[in-house]
Amino acid sequence: MFELLKTIHLLSLYAGGGAAIGSAVLAARAGTAAGDGSVSPRFVAGTMAALGRIGLVAILAIWASGLAMVWREPFLAGGWVYWIKLLGAVVALLAVLALARERWAAARSGSTPEPARMKLLGQVAMAATIATVIFAVIAFN
Ligand code: HEM
Repeated sequence: MFELLKTIHLLSLYAGGGAAIGSAVLAARAGTAAGDGSVSPRFVAGTMAALGRIGLVAILAIWASGLAMVWREPFLAGGWVYWIKLLGAVVALLAVLALARERWAAARSGSTPEPARMKLLGQVAMAATIATVIFAVIAFN
């Protein structure tokens, strides 16, 4: 069972990281593509929203599987490196939730999310995730 939970944990990290990198690449390329008319802003916005949903589900699955692992093996939740890992995970979760909130607010008002704020939140989520992975490897080895 623990192996299954850890597999879910790591595959969710794969899905979330993929979605985050996909969003960053799409955002970086969308400006030029929209400028020369080779891609519609509607298509870009729809793809960004889909990637955002993947990221949200991924971070929730990472948290659920992480908490379940600690519930099964409580001794894993010990040592300061573990708590720093958890701090990184909290920041990543808050950033992804904030991204989702921006998307929902924009959808409700019929607009698109503010690009600069989305970029900043995306960078916070990515930096926190990278730090969390580093501290996870240190904590659990
Ligand atoms: C952004 C959030 C998170 C990321 C990126 C992340 C990343 C990772 C990574 C890369 C590993 C593998 C480490 C290794 O085996 O060397 C791991 C394992 C683990 N994580 Fe997370 N994690 C996150 C959130 C959480 C949370 C919220 C919890 C618990 C509250 C948690 C608990 C665990 C546990 C128990 C293990 C397995 C340790 C073992 O194999 O002995 N993680 N995590």
